Amino acid sequence: MTGIDFAQPAIATAEAAHPDVRGLRFEVVDICRRAPDEGRFGVMLDRGCLHTVPAGLRPDYVRNAAAAAVPGARFLLLFRVGPETTKDATVRALESLCGVAFEVVRVTDAVLAGDGDASRDQHRGVALWMTCR
Ligand SMILES: C[S@@+](CC[C@H](N)C(=O)[O-])C[C@H]1O[C@@H](n2cnc3c(N)ncnc32)[C@H](O)[C@@H]1O
Repeated sequence: MTGIDFAQPAIATAEAAHPDVRGLRFEVVDICRRAPDEGRFGVMLDRGCLHTVPAGLRPDYVRNAAAAAVPGARFLLLFRVGPETTKDATVRALESLCGVAFEVVRVTDAVLAGDGDASRDQHRGVALWMTCR
């Protein structure tokens, strides 16, 4: 299992939180620039990364995520719904963005929680359950 982030401090935090877990590794990767070095993955999870990526770079994100996946890989995308839009509009935009490489098989509501006070640090989101084409 590989965890990625383009921020070295985030990777350092993850390594400190999960020392000595067999088969778990972390790698500094800008997913808008390239796929992780090692392996292609059968299961992928994004919790809160894509919605921080500038719109113009999102097609690059999708291309590199697809490059990291084996055909048929499962990809669960947890994406924050911004205050200026609706869940339906967000889902439509994500289906259009991701559809070149992934088939959306299910959409559910999601709550994205940060590390802070759960009563304040929660955001509405959507979960897209996808498979790699
Ligand atoms: C909202 S945080 C979520 C962090 C973590 N996934 C979690 O659930 O707690 C978004 C993370 O995405 C990372 N990120 C943003 N753009 C990225 C990119 N292009 N490549 C890799 N990581 C990125 C940020 O550094 C940040 O750590």
